[in-house]
Amino acid sequence: MALSSLLFKAFGLGTILLLSQYILAYLSSPIKKLPGPFLAKLSHLWRFFNHYSRQHIETQRRLHEKYGDAVQIGPNTVSLSDASLVKTIYSTRGTFLKSDYYTINDALQNGHIIQNIFSTRSNEFHSKQLKPVQKLYTFQSAIKLEPLMNNTLQALCLQLETRFMEGANAGKTCNIANWISYFTWDFLSDMTFSKRMGFMEQGKDVGNMISTAEDVMRYFSVVGQIPVLDKLLGKNPYLPYKFPDFAVAAGFCAQQFMARMQNLEQYKEKDFMNGFLAAKKEHPELVDDNTVIGYLIINILGGADTTAIVIKAIVYWILKNPAVKVKLVAELTSAKLLFPATYAAVEQLPYLDACIKEGLRIHPVVGHILERVVPSFGLRLSDGTVLPPGTIVGINPWVLTRNKDIYGERPDDFVPERWLKKDGEDAGAYEARLRKMTDADMAFGNGNRTCLGRPLALVELYKVTATLFRKYQMDLEDQTKEWELHKQWFVWPHNIKIKMSPLKL
Ligand code: HEM
Repeated sequence: MALSSLLFKAFGLGTILLLSQYILAYLSSPIKKLPGPFLAKLSHLWRFFNHYSRQHIETQRRLHEKYGDAVQIGPNTVSLSDASLVKTIYSTRGTFLKSDYYTINDALQNGHIIQNIFSTRSNEFHSKQLKPVQKLYTFQSAIKLEPLMNNTLQALCLQLETRFMEGANAGKTCNIANWISYFTWDFLSDMTFSKRMGFMEQGKDVGNMISTAEDVMRYFSVVGQIPVLDKLLGKNPYLPYKFPDFAVAAGFCAQQFMARMQNLEQYKEKDFMNGFLAAKKEHPELVDDNTVIGYLIINILGGADTTAIVIKAIVYWILKNPAVKVKLVAELTSAKLLFPATYAAVEQLPYLDACIKEGLRIHPVVGHILERVVPSFGLRLSDGTVLPPGTIVGINPWVLTRNKDIYGERPDDFVPERWLKKDGEDAGAYEARLRKMTDADMAFGNGNRTCLGRPLALVELYKVTATLFRKYQMDLEDQTKEWELHKQWFVWPHNIKIKMSPLKL
């Protein structure tokens, strides 16, 4: 009895101490006058549970509709939706550093924390990692990789045809969401080390790498709201429970590296691995074997799911809007494309271009605010409020892309026409409207931390979309059924069930 009463008192005291800490932090907070949920001002737990329940996108959209451009969503965190701040917060000079949210993406190796090009909060480390490999990610380099991309695209077509369109398989339902993932993972591994991981050939998620990547991102999404928890959970070597990690994908990359080192002569292909090894030769002071393996891992993990998510969104939204599909197929047909179509031939097609831009708008890959830290000079908002140094700020692309002042009416609908010149619209007005939309674009991030794989991803998006819609008649199995979205750091689409048959070329 005495012990339980002591425990009860200790618990009560602990609770009082914790609450008083929250209240003191709230009272002394320089941003407490900003609008936002009261509980969010007191503790990070509000944000933690909001992300845990996968409600963050709806919540942030609702809060911005109610309160305007600046909403406090944590004791020290502000979600912003003013497009004029994009270039300031995500500047090319990198004055607003990434927040501790990104520490979750660091690796723990032999007791040491290893940052990478995506997770690092240091501009110096970032430049050192980027400099040796930047030239591998230009548009010219992406175009040089087209022959490799063509091979993988042909392999996808072959699998889709044999499994869903030919012989006894004709008319079988295809979950195209899975096949798009298989394609992008195989394609990225083919580009990176001239070896597919075998997703398409086996028609399954080999080694559960794709589902594990989603689980890791869920951890990133939730624990990232209180980054210090990562030390107690994912990066705690003493914890008996193992949180999902990228071990299988990382192991595959390390294996490919070892194999290449033993067989350097055999690989003449211009794949990324050769590029990374050349970077090691050119910059031995910056790149060692571990750096090369790190580059390989980031290539696969940064490039496969992201591109798959956007292709799935483009395909789904076109199929959901039959009038869009008819227009697109007409444009592709009159272009008289050869397959696999070259990027040069498809990037010039205006309606395809509009569909891709609209896909990137309606379904940004990242569903969180892209967190940055306000630097020493503070951040002045358009109403004159100055956010003090150290405040965590960010814009959620899912909030910004629904802004009617920027994107026009029906922001929740897939309307490729919003990217095209309207009848009677003069050239100047169209230019201005387009500029407004592109200035607000955050699909690939912005500034010095913008997506490294953007050129490569764009080449992929245009070629895959053109190929699928020109070669095949595709229809949703049930036009009224919605896809399934798993909302985390990325917004993952699942279950896009379609029927497909070959179109006459
Ligand atoms: C449609 C496809 C893609 C989309 C929508 C996309 C989106 C993004 C976004 C939004 C960021 C910034 C994240 C942040 O600021 O927190 C980013 C960063 C990055 N992406 Fe992509 N990505 C795509 C494809 C790729 C590909 C194909 C690769 C590599 C082959 C890649 C590699 C990277 C890397 C390395 C970074 C970190 C850049 C840095 O911090 O300097 N991405 N991506």
